[in-house]
Amino acid sequence: MSDQNTPTRMRVEGRVAVVTLTAPPVNALSSTLRESLRERIGQAGQDAGIGAIVLTGAGRLFCGGADITEFGKAPQGIGLGELLAIVETSNKPIVAAIHGQALGGGLELALACHHRVATPSAKLGLPEVKLGIVPGAGGTQRLPRIVGPEKALEMITSGQPVSAKAAHAMGLLDALTAEDALVSDVVAFAEDVLAAGRTSPRIRDRNDRLAEARENPNLFKDFRDANTKKFRGFEAPEGCIRCVEAACTLPFDEGLAFERETFLRLVAGAQSVAQRHVFFAEREAAKIPDMSGDTPTLPITRVGVVGAGTMGGGIAMNFLNAGIPVTIVEAKPEALERGLETIRRNYDNTARKGRISAADVETRMGLLSDGLDLAALAECDLIIEAVFEDLDLKRAVFSRLDAVAKPSAILATNTSYLDVDVIAGMTGRPEHVLGLHFFSPANVMRLLEVVRGEKTDTRVLATAMQLGRRIGKVAVVVGVCHGFVGNRMLAERQREANGLILEGALPQDVDRVIQEFGLPMGPFAMSDLAGLDIGWSAQTSKGESVRDILCERDRRGQKTGRGFYDYDETRKATPSAEVEAVIREVSQRQGLTRRAVSDQEILERCLYPMVNEGAKILEEGKALRASDIDTVWVNGYGWPVYRGGPMHWADTVGLGTILERMRAFRAEHGDAFNPSALLERLAAEDGGFSGYDRRAGQAA
Ligand code: 3HC
Ligand code: NAI
Repeated sequence: MSDQNTPTRMRVEGRVAVVTLTAPPVNALSSTLRESLRERIGQAGQDAGIGAIVLTGAGRLFCGGADITEFGKAPQGIGLGELLAIVETSNKPIVAAIHGQALGGGLELALACHHRVATPSAKLGLPEVKLGIVPGAGGTQRLPRIVGPEKALEMITSGQPVSAKAAHAMGLLDALTAEDALVSDVVAFAEDVLAAGRTSPRIRDRNDRLAEARENPNLFKDFRDANTKKFRGFEAPEGCIRCVEAACTLPFDEGLAFERETFLRLVAGAQSVAQRHVFFAEREAAKIPDMSGDTPTLPITRVGVVGAGTMGGGIAMNFLNAGIPVTIVEAKPEALERGLETIRRNYDNTARKGRISAADVETRMGLLSDGLDLAALAECDLIIEAVFEDLDLKRAVFSRLDAVAKPSAILATNTSYLDVDVIAGMTGRPEHVLGLHFFSPANVMRLLEVVRGEKTDTRVLATAMQLGRRIGKVAVVVGVCHGFVGNRMLAERQREANGLILEGALPQDVDRVIQEFGLPMGPFAMSDLAGLDIGWSAQTSKGESVRDILCERDRRGQKTGRGFYDYDETRKATPSAEVEAVIREVSQRQGLTRRAVSDQEILERCLYPMVNEGAKILEEGKALRASDIDTVWVNGYGWPVYRGGPMHWADTVGLGTILERMRAFRAEHGDAFNPSALLERLAAEDGGFSGYDRRAGQAA
């Protein structure tokens, strides 16, 4: 094999062989890279002139771990575990030289080396749990032996990487190098090791740190108890804990075998399949068919926000956090004052929790300017409108923005439901208008629906997608329709939830079923949180629906201490006898005989219509692909990642089953359950949403 074609390079400096992983973009340990590494290490091992080996990565990082695309396929070439055994038993010391990131199998490779050295900016972690698996190449056995079981548990079950400085402090790294002299410093380090004539220390032989677990027999139980809520529904964290327990109780090789068994079981399970689907779905969402990496973008150096309410304030914070100056404009001084105070209070709270420094708070607030006239936005490159959800008001704001904004500026609306094309039509620059639909709380939720209007220019769309990434969002392109992707599907669930409580279920039944499925809260708890009076007014209330009556009784949700539930000072919800009586009264008025509703029916009635609506969204081209819909639901609504999003989940249920239930519900409840043509077609073809490509017009 010639050097250009292999995924590694090797050069020799004095007595040190430097082996570089050269497999862009992330040096994933594919079968070809593993084979190539085996060959290099063998070659260096046999060369009498070489005393030590340095392993390093080309490009922006050391190694992003195992090649995830190989999971679920027949194994090829040398296994990672086998390769790491060769590394570990090499009688010539091997030093990992880490920059960027060492993740998953990448960190496991470093742990099999005899020494680890990194640049100060590097990050090290075992993120396997996020893919629904345990580290499968010794990570759960070696990490506790070097950092202690307690820290290992934290790192392995959270999947969060640690900084090189923290890794150095906990003994995971032998040394830190200068930022820009990694390889030369590590070669010098290797020379020192050779000069000192030290033997090659192997982590597998270290048992001193494991004593921590013997001294604290409750370590694992306490850890489980402390994290019950966080791990709810997930299989992999328990697998991780058991593997670390095995590291503390079993000899190394037996622990390794236990880890392997756990890895193989989880990697074949539905949760890992779903979590890997989400990993690739989020990356796929960035790919737009009529755009490429070469699509030009517009520079965004200052952002304007109109409205400093719930959304405007949170939206502004995203940009301030990324170091982008923001000008926020309100209609009234009191509202402006309130909005600015909320932003500052949020930052102060974050600083109090130690997540940012007091200086960061001042830097961010220093980037914020304000005004009471839209003219203050004249210099902004992007202006995001977040005023009340009222089309006439938005029309007025956009026609004025068009007049005051510079010609190149992008004008965006955060509307939840209104027609972005109508709003764009109020300006003389509809190609520079789009929707940027943030989710509440806007500074926290990762999802950004980027609403592509009929006339939105590709440069404007590309700029929005790039900016989304810059502020840490997962941006998904959606088309103009009522509620876009997320809220449009949510409306289906809400309608059914409201129907179910009139037929016989109670809010707490519906919420429990949805929560047990894995969503953070059910539809009624969610209504209470958002406020029952959104879109309701005393003047227009007919007093007919449960919601009307609850609002009239000032049961407007958490903010009034009562809604579908009663709330105490700690916001703990208790079912309400008053609400039950209201529901029974409305059922009776509608002539419904209440009946027992099973949990299974609640689940199917709430979720199948959502899937069906997702299919309509796909058919209409309002989402580019089923996986984009999944990305919306996982990142915007807390759909359990281990169920992969509603469309992935539907595939696992089977589209035939869903279609059959939709038909049965239609017979009983009418047209709301009309199956979409796409659902019918894919079910008939025995296909799934995963293989559906709208551009090809058929299931692949
Ligand atoms: N395997 C295969 N492909 C991978 C990959 C991996 N481990 N990591 C990233 N990629 C691909 C992405 O899908 C993407 O492909 P695309 O360009 O075709 O969409 C491309 O590499 C670039 O990825 P990102 O856009 O995510 O690049 P960033 O620079 O933003 O992030 C990263 C880089 C931090 C390494 C990020 O990609 C990441 O978190 N990767 C996954 C890391 C991980 O989970 N590793 C553990 C793997 S499981 C394992 O090691 C099992 C072992 O214990 C046996
Ligand atoms: P809000 O009522 O909290 O804030 C709206 C703000 O706009 C108020 O502070 C008001 O004073 C200000 N305002 C009104 N007219 C103005 C004008 N002419 N110029 C400047 N400021 C003006 O409303 P919220 O919840 O922030 O919603 C804003 C928009 O975001 C709406 O379109 C809504 O549909 C959308 N949205 C809301 C979400 C939520 O969960 N609250 C989620 C996603 C989108």
